[in-house]
Amino acid sequence: MGFFSKDIKTLDDLFIHTLRDIYYAEKQIEKSLPKMIDKATDPQLKAGFEKHLTQTKGHIERVEQVFELHGVKAKTVNCPAIDGILAEADEVSGDVDDKEVLDAALIASAQAVEHYEITRYGTLIAWARQLGRSDCANVLARNLKEEEATDRKLTEIAESKVNLQAAE
Ligand SMILES: [Fe+2]
Ligand SMILES: [Fe+2]
Repeated sequence: MGFFSKDIKTLDDLFIHTLRDIYYAEKQIEKSLPKMIDKATDPQLKAGFEKHLTQTKGHIERVEQVFELHGVKAKTVNCPAIDGILAEADEVSGDVDDKEVLDAALIASAQAVEHYEITRYGTLIAWARQLGRSDCANVLARNLKEEEATDRKLTEIAESKVNLQAAE
């Protein structure tokens, strides 16, 4: 089902399509985080990625819960946007030689991922509320809260030390 395919007729169809998009994205992120954990040098950054991997498994479960609440089958649709963000993350980190600069690059890539998730969850929550599904919106809001906290934490790690060390 393509984004502009005629299979999407209503806001409810669009909500389900976008839920399948974030379901795919979360699963790809779950696959990518172990690589980022391996590459990170700063212990706080490594621990932060480990924590977010655990949270990401929870995000997948919550998205499955929303599929169930909404009475539709949990399935994915390809999301070229997250594929591109993750491919670029891989490519850039492969090109960085210095460990401390690599940490700065990993944070930048991870924040691009978080911002993608934040925009998707923000939209899904708004549409769920519009569709009268505050039950779905509340579950999605729990994921959004964790993505936002992760994004803030990454900014803090970058600005308090990783960027300074990378600039040395
Ligand atoms: Fe997530
Ligand atoms: Fe995330």
